[in-house]
Amino acid sequence: MHLTLLTYLSVVFAVARAGAPTIPLDEAIVIGKTNGTVTSYYGIPYAQPPIDDLRLRLPKPVTAYNGTINATVPATQCTQLPAAPRSDLPTTILQDLLAYGATIPNSVDVPQSEDCPSHSWEAKKSRKLVSVTLDSTIGLADSWAPHADGVFIKAPPQHLVLAGSVANIPFITGDALDEGTVFSTGSFNVTTEDEFRTFVQQEFFPNTPVDILAPLFDLYPNVASEGSPFETGNANELYPEFKRMAALQGDIAFQAPRRFLLDQRSLKQHAWTYTSKRGAIQGLGCPHGSDAVQALALGNDLSDYVIQFTATLDPNGGASNRTIAWPRYDPLARSMFVLLDGDTPLEIVPDTARLEAMAALTELTVAYPI
Ligand SMILES: *[C@@H]1O[C@H](CO)[C@@H](O)[C@H](O)[C@H]1NC(C)=O
Ligand SMILES: *[C@@H]1O[C@H](CO)[C@@H](O)[C@H](O)[C@H]1NC(C)=O
Ligand SMILES: *[C@@H]1O[C@H](CO)[C@@H](O)[C@H](O)[C@H]1NC(C)=O
Ligand SMILES: *[C@@H]1O[C@H](CO)[C@@H](O)[C@H](O)[C@H]1NC(C)=O
Ligand SMILES: *[C@@H]1O[C@H](CO)[C@@H](O)[C@H](O)[C@H]1NC(C)=O
Repeated sequence: MHLTLLTYLSVVFAVARAGAPTIPLDEAIVIGKTNGTVTSYYGIPYAQPPIDDLRLRLPKPVTAYNGTINATVPATQCTQLPAAPRSDLPTTILQDLLAYGATIPNSVDVPQSEDCPSHSWEAKKSRKLVSVTLDSTIGLADSWAPHADGVFIKAPPQHLVLAGSVANIPFITGDALDEGTVFSTGSFNVTTEDEFRTFVQQEFFPNTPVDILAPLFDLYPNVASEGSPFETGNANELYPEFKRMAALQGDIAFQAPRRFLLDQRSLKQHAWTYTSKRGAIQGLGCPHGSDAVQALALGNDLSDYVIQFTATLDPNGGASNRTIAWPRYDPLARSMFVLLDGDTPLEIVPDTARLEAMAALTELTVAYPI
């Protein structure tokens, strides 16, 4: 329906009279909501609904916005499907996991319905925190994760980074210490060296020749004290290859892509990185998603830096109660902001954990994209 100028004006007038904030978008009037000092415009569709013939197809942009868009309430969230904790998890860990799952997602989001085009928890986070990337979604090895299709995602993400196809804006990227633990609770039956090798090859490197993959298994040895949950000695080995599996899965999907992005881009654009070592739980350490609580909780110290970053494009900008300076990343100093429990809540340490192992993982995933 094409609005005439008269109806357009009367809509503006009616809305203005009601005191609601509005913005024009093409021919549409978008009604937002003011709360204190901020005005929000929620749930403006960016593509046509992925229903009927558009199911599992490339998104079709909205051609022209028209009419009145009520953007005063958040859009319905995509269905979230948390991974069911395995029933053979030790009871105390199961309890921790359930309590933890009640507050934040603890798993890769697998959309239950095809009406969900995005990796929704990541999308939700990035929508809330304009231009802040909290986790890397590069390279998750499940079939619902983003994969290059040559059209919408033109090439494997690491190839795009190497080609310089990266938004040239300041960014923060960070992880929890133990990104891989939750995902490794699903492979409790992988308990021997041979089973480990077979599992890793099948899950992540089905097209990689065995001899090329072999050195990786020495770089991630089955030594509990070197595995994840990191920095816990021999504790938390839930099954014979668990800590090794968790170290490798956390690095392949999160830590190595994070460091790769920083290595490639931090001399070209301003970048900051963090690791959260806060809120460890038995068996899982500081698991996937635990850093989001730190970043998003109002009044928390990391949120202070993140809010200043969204306002000034520098986590050290603006006035606030921040206690230490967060240096920019560069591939020599590798300064990393670390969130800790205890008397010293924040510190800067070099991001040098498993340098050789992660470099090998990066080389493999660039040659054989996941
Ligand atoms: C108005 O928007 C609807 C829904 O997006 C669309 O189907 C329609 O073609 C648009 N009308 C015009 C005149 O652009
Ligand atoms: C308005 O913002 C405050 C925080 O500043 C929040 O507690 C409150 O829930 C918000 N109200 C609405 C209606 O969103
Ligand atoms: C927008 O939608 C909300 C929730 O459905 C409703 O309460 C509100 O009255 C609507 N606002 C306008 C201007 O239509
Ligand atoms: C472990 O269990 C999964 C799922 O039940 C199965 O596909 C896989 O083959 C098993 N692996 C081993 C080494 O038994
Ligand atoms: C610093 O913290 C105090 C107490 O929490 C608060 O009242 C004050 O507004 C904060 N200052 C800034 C600049 O955030």
